Amino acid sequence: MAVATLFTPFHVDGLALANRIVIAPMCQYSAEDGCMTDWHVIHLGHLALSGAALLTIEATAVAAEGRITYADSGLYSDACEAAMRRTLDAVRRWSDMPIAIQLAHAGRKASTEVPWKGRGQIAPDHAHGWIAEAPSPLPFAKSELAPKMLNRDDLRRLRDAFADSARRAARLDLAAVQLHAAHGYLLHQFLSPLANQRDDEYGGSLANRMRFPLEVFEATRAAFPAGRPVSVRVSGTDWADGGWDIAQTAAFAQELEKRGCGAIHVSSGGLTPAQKIPMGPSYQVPLARAVKQAVKIPVIAVGLITEFEQAEAILGTGDADLIALARAMLYDPRWPWHAAAHFGARIKAPDQYLRSQPHYLPHLFDVGGGG
Ligand SMILES: Cc1cc2nc3c(=O)[nH]c(=O)nc-3n(C[C@H](O)[C@H](O)[C@H](O)COP(=O)(O)O)c2cc1C
Repeated sequence: MAVATLFTPFHVDGLALANRIVIAPMCQYSAEDGCMTDWHVIHLGHLALSGAALLTIEATAVAAEGRITYADSGLYSDACEAAMRRTLDAVRRWSDMPIAIQLAHAGRKASTEVPWKGRGQIAPDHAHGWIAEAPSPLPFAKSELAPKMLNRDDLRRLRDAFADSARRAARLDLAAVQLHAAHGYLLHQFLSPLANQRDDEYGGSLANRMRFPLEVFEATRAAFPAGRPVSVRVSGTDWADGGWDIAQTAAFAQELEKRGCGAIHVSSGGLTPAQKIPMGPSYQVPLARAVKQAVKIPVIAVGLITEFEQAEAILGTGDADLIALARAMLYDPRWPWHAAAHFGARIKAPDQYLRSQPHYLPHLFDVGGGG
């Protein structure tokens, strides 16, 4: 039987991937002052035993005020870096799965409550609250306090913050950096005309709206070792009239490609409460397909990919090179094992779990330890 594409190896820049399954970044809202806690050892630790090709650390703030919530993880101080090193040391002791990190700044969507306590904006005069900053003084929701508009010095500071965090990521031996330019956070706010109404060279035309995200990309790429990929996660559309759309996304992807971007990860939405998302299985795959047609670098599809044959079909039809899973991995962290079993492929399992191999699948586990 031919090997399923899902279980064929792949390369992004100098990063070798054992198969096509990527674990998408997932905020855990369990950090203290930006520092990872034991929760991250548990969370990342069990995902690192899953057999996926790549584990992506959650949206990690490049500045304290760029956190979505007070409990977000960050990589903006020596303390954050030390906490992440402790976490990574623990995970890596038992898994050799490559680990990437998503670097992020929430812009106007900063200073909110954690999801399980309601997500609402926290005012700057409350505990755990601060003034958010954004391309334009436009709040995400009309009821919210407007963010402070970023000036030129602020832009330099933020661009440097992304680069500094990328240097910390390099010191932590992370395999790749993903810039978060999706879901309505800072870089996406610059891209979308619904959030960016600046009249300087960072607003207006598409070239102007792309300028800051591209500057951040260039600074990040320069700060992270050559050969280790810097990829970008985009929202392919705002799903709202007058917003960011797939044609602009394709143009942005081409500009990123010219600057050495490793891969484009195509998500969508998050910029405006007015969005109307046609939610359903593979709902973002057509966006990935459109980006794939615009660039030669690898494209990652994500969003309600839950079934093995569905994942294989996305790769088989050439809509994307890799698939990313978020909720399916939380629900079933052994999804890659089950997918390998389904397709008759082999997958890595930790030595400690080798005895769990079902008797009717005598060749499932690649013996040799690690993730
Ligand atoms: C708990 C949770 C946390 C998330 N945090 C992030 C994040 O840190 N960065 C990001 O880009 N997307 C984040 N997402 C979105 C996922 O990465 C993914 O794009 C989305 O859930 C759709 O994929 P899925 O259908 O496989 O879950 C999060 C999703 C979940 C469920």
